[in-house]
Amino acid sequence: MRNAIEVVNVSKSFGAIKAVDNVSFTVKEGEIFGFLGPNGAGKTTTMRMITGLIKPDSGVIRIFGVDILRDHIKAKQLMGILPEMSNAYIDLSAWDNLMLVGGLYGVPKKICEERGERLLKQFKLFDRRNQLVKGFSKGMKQRLLVCMALIHEPILLLLDEPTSGLDVESTILIREVLKKLNENGVTVFITTHNMDEASRLCERVAIMHHGKIIVTDTVDNVRDKTERFKILEVIFDKAADFTELASLSVNGDFNVSGERVRVVVEDVDSVVNRIVDYARNNSIRIISLNTLSPSLEEAFIKLTGS
Ligand SMILES: Nc1ncnc2c1ncn2[C@@H]1O[C@H](COP(=O)(O)OP(=O)(O)O)[C@@H](O)[C@H]1O
Ligand SMILES: [Mg+2]
Repeated sequence: MRNAIEVVNVSKSFGAIKAVDNVSFTVKEGEIFGFLGPNGAGKTTTMRMITGLIKPDSGVIRIFGVDILRDHIKAKQLMGILPEMSNAYIDLSAWDNLMLVGGLYGVPKKICEERGERLLKQFKLFDRRNQLVKGFSKGMKQRLLVCMALIHEPILLLLDEPTSGLDVESTILIREVLKKLNENGVTVFITTHNMDEASRLCERVAIMHHGKIIVTDTVDNVRDKTERFKILEVIFDKAADFTELASLSVNGDFNVSGERVRVVVEDVDSVVNRIVDYARNNSIRIISLNTLSPSLEEAFIKLTGS
């Protein structure tokens, strides 16, 4: 199996901000690889370097063995890209946008039209093909952008938070198409801060935090390592000095805002008992108490203590 993406010791700073700090990972041909992390982790910057939009300060990136810096055009032909920011022309129709991008990639007109029709139908946009993108909803725009990323039939598709803030229908549609493409051999690299999305789609994930990769593993292994953590959220009837409860948390992860206390715990049962005692001893009432499973990346950030 070839490597679809190789990232070797890549770094990138913006002034004093080290956005990507000596990052290395490999995406194998044929997999759906999830690139996870909270906002500001460095995902988009990494993706922009992989797609050749910006240059790393140091390190090497290869796309199917092609060095992105040395042979940018050849690497670009292999990739379909959905960037973080929308880039369809709003004063053109969906169809014209698609034909324009196909032309840029050198797809012959006839083939471009055939593919365009098929893609727009697949993404439920065919009936709207002659409307200006200006009038499209966010979900429609995003679906069109995915069509545009696919018009030259890339063997590697890279998407930066493709479903973030989208309606349910568009989200489901995009995920279904990604799965189908992958079954047909397309390698998919997807950044997301949504662990649920990653666990639905991906075999392997890398989790990034503060510019560094803190883990690269299968979704199952990552989940195993983190599922013992829970977040307990308690709302009391009044704000108080809750510092006494801080000792209940794992890694000191304890957060108060007004009447609300949020604490990361391992043993939910014993912690709940202690919170009930605390409330009774201090004449405070509990309004609500919820147990939440932390997102995988939240849990990982706890685990690494960073
Ligand atoms: N063009 C830029 N100029 C200055 N700082 C930037 C630029 N792009 C990103 N950053 C900074 O780099 C860090 C990582 O950002 P980004 O890669 O967008 O993270 P993510 O996509 O994971 O949310 C952030 O602190 C961000 O503010
Ligand atoms: Mg981003």
